[in-house]
Amino acid sequence: MIIAIDGPAASGKGTLGKRLAHHYGYRHLDTGVIYRAVAQAMLEAGADLTNEALAVAMAMELDPEKFGNPVLKTQKVGDAASVVSAIPKVREVLINFQRQFAADPPGAVLDGRDIGTVICPDADVKIFVVADPHVRARRRTLEARARGEAADEAAVLADILKRDERDQNRAVAPLKAAPDAYLLDNSQLDIESGVRAAIDIVEAVR
Ligand code: C5P
Repeated sequence: MIIAIDGPAASGKGTLGKRLAHHYGYRHLDTGVIYRAVAQAMLEAGADLTNEALAVAMAMELDPEKFGNPVLKTQKVGDAASVVSAIPKVREVLINFQRQFAADPPGAVLDGRDIGTVICPDADVKIFVVADPHVRARRRTLEARARGEAADEAAVLADILKRDERDQNRAVAPLKAAPDAYLLDNSQLDIESGVRAAIDIVEAVR
């Protein structure tokens, strides 16, 4: 069983993915972390983020042990991830890792931008999560402040809109709902209601 969850930045897809995986006893992969890890490696190396050869090399050397590094959560790394993830060869290198993760038993929940369209087009259930940009900005701001980072909501909103734009308009694997995805509007839902709505979708489909 493979559950694919896609959606824009800060739509709540990560939390839904984690909770769904827990509910069904499946493994969970937040695929954004993969691109963030590549981006962080580029930032650490002081490299130009559009240096394709280097970004591909970093993607090939990716170490999943580093996925828990808190620095990966920061807005700076998220922005950089949205730049390196637009490099088609970087995406290509990372496809197998994601497909392998999805295929291992007993089942998996993957969340990202292109899970239902490119990584797992045959996923059993596809959910596309959307939420009002202002709501997303508010949530991201509160999360950042909870981590002790200074965050200005207007700046966070501008960043989210810029990232949406970049993710939706890139040539390869742009952010978009698969034709067979269920739309989940997370704008007005608290976490528990969102999880309930997602479980209802899975139950209706499987
Ligand atoms: O979801 P998250 O904000 O962690 O993702 C960071 C960036 O990684 C996104 O803005 C997007 O550009 C990229 N990404 C992607 N494909 C995925 C997951 C994330 O291109 N499956």
